[in-house]
Amino acid sequence: MADKKTKLELTWIGKENRPKLEPRILIEDPGKSYHAKYRSTPRPLGEGMGVRADVFDNKLIFGDNLLALKALEAEYAGKVKCVFIDPPYNTGSAFEHYDDGVEHSLWLSLMRDRLELIKRLLANNGSLWITIDDNESHYLKVLCDEIFGRTKFVANIVWQKRTTRENRAAIGSSHDHILLYTITEAVEWKTHRNLLPSTDEGFSNPDNDPRGPWRSIPFSAQGWRPNQMYKIETPTGVILEPPKGRCWGATEETFNTYMKEGRVYFPKGGDGKPRIKTYLGEETGLVPNTLWLAAEAGDNQEAKKEAMSLFPNDEAFSTPKPERLLKLVLSISTNPGDLVLDSFAGSGTTGAVAHKMGRRWIMIELGEHCHTHIIPRLKKVIDGEDEGGITKAVDWKGGGGFRYYRLAPSLLEKDKWGNWVINKQYNAAQLAEALCKLEGFIYDPSDTLYWMHGHSTESDYIYVTTQTLTHEQLQALSDEVGENRSLLVMCSAFKCKTDTFANLTVKKIPNTVLSKCEWGHDDYSLQVENLPKEPITEDREVDLFGEDE
Ligand SMILES: C[S@@+](CC[C@H](N)C(=O)[O-])C[C@H]1O[C@@H](n2cnc3c(N)ncnc32)[C@H](O)[C@@H]1O
Repeated sequence: MADKKTKLELTWIGKENRPKLEPRILIEDPGKSYHAKYRSTPRPLGEGMGVRADVFDNKLIFGDNLLALKALEAEYAGKVKCVFIDPPYNTGSAFEHYDDGVEHSLWLSLMRDRLELIKRLLANNGSLWITIDDNESHYLKVLCDEIFGRTKFVANIVWQKRTTRENRAAIGSSHDHILLYTITEAVEWKTHRNLLPSTDEGFSNPDNDPRGPWRSIPFSAQGWRPNQMYKIETPTGVILEPPKGRCWGATEETFNTYMKEGRVYFPKGGDGKPRIKTYLGEETGLVPNTLWLAAEAGDNQEAKKEAMSLFPNDEAFSTPKPERLLKLVLSISTNPGDLVLDSFAGSGTTGAVAHKMGRRWIMIELGEHCHTHIIPRLKKVIDGEDEGGITKAVDWKGGGGFRYYRLAPSLLEKDKWGNWVINKQYNAAQLAEALCKLEGFIYDPSDTLYWMHGHSTESDYIYVTTQTLTHEQLQALSDEVGENRSLLVMCSAFKCKTDTFANLTVKKIPNTVLSKCEWGHDDYSLQVENLPKEPITEDREVDLFGEDE
């Protein structure tokens, strides 16, 4: 039999089409950026991240998230600790703030392209959380398995989004899914996530233990382990074997230690199977589980109330998530100072919660509610005027700030003869920054050397100019760069052979960058018109051009 390698995969129309994205630069609009006047909680001297402090270095990006994620790639690859996204669920009902009714194939392609970029942005110990309902959740799971790997799947959390009955459907939908993926192996992520604060739920003192209230777990485990198969004698003299199909919870030596510590509880008046006690105050935290009830994580109604109290006169955003849900996600996955990203920001819940919890954030939103909802909401958070959501629980008083960015237009545009030329809207600094991104250099212009616009290593630099460079100018550049450094010169034209100077690589813009990506493509968003055409198979040809024609 031929050695044919196959893999399990989900297919859809247009899966093989991948956009060749232009790495745009981000342009700040300082008029829309917002900062508190004072630093209110300065980071203590000598303390690093992990200590709560005002966060000013946040980003709100207005635009399509595919181009925006690409724009972030150069600076943020491997740096994001938690990505939370709440994408359009593709339910087929047009929501007020965005068109949610897109075809399944288009939706999968759009999600795939965005998830691949998100994966690159995530840190090794980072995690991705996606809320989704039954319409696409199972397709999304298979898609994520393909992108991240099945061993990176941590959990499908069931979040109770509704507590009231839904009578219109055959079976009312009262939960959403939250898919959780990691970059590291899912089993290893245990060492990176945080435990949840312990509660005193389930603690009591039925045996009047002098050490106070306790709760217990059975002292047995699944399976058969030879050193955990001993006999235990209860205080009433009954000899116990491990329960059927199980072994004891630890070795005999460990059990004897528990006995000496007075931690073993035999229920049923001393005859029952042993349980191990944990006393109140001893637990370091609770392991999160896969069922998140509304009482703990909030529900859609709570989110709507939060939105209405933020914008009482305005129309509230229609599909927000409750702040308590985000607080749970960020408590488990991040620490103060960590970077959180939401590329489907909506009304800005993720940024608001991250801000109040002392995390850094980046949010991307293409809808006009970026201006009508996110900016006013975050201003209230910064000014300490948002009293709702998790404000009291985390004792948020205000502070910090954010910068507002939009995506630069495409670097190249067509002139009236249909030739690609450098976009006239670009100034010299923006051109240099854009070409650094395109060529994989870090934009870092020098204050003293005019030709040092960026670097790729400690000795490899880039210089960008719209001039035509003469042989003399290139000679002068080559002399300044010297023997131990190299320089990529990107210019409109040059008058010499390309290999004249050993330390210079000279290239013409736009000619050399033309094939690098798709130019002038501004809209990769959820538009049905973007759906690729279904390939015409022989069967379909008969249908289309058959006898009826
Ligand atoms: C369900 S809402 C998110 C709600 C958010 N979790 C909240 O609490 O307010 C999804 C958001 O994604 C935005 N969106 C959809 N496609 C986008 C795209 N291509 N780029 C950026 N944002 C997009 C929509 O405009 C919408 O605001």
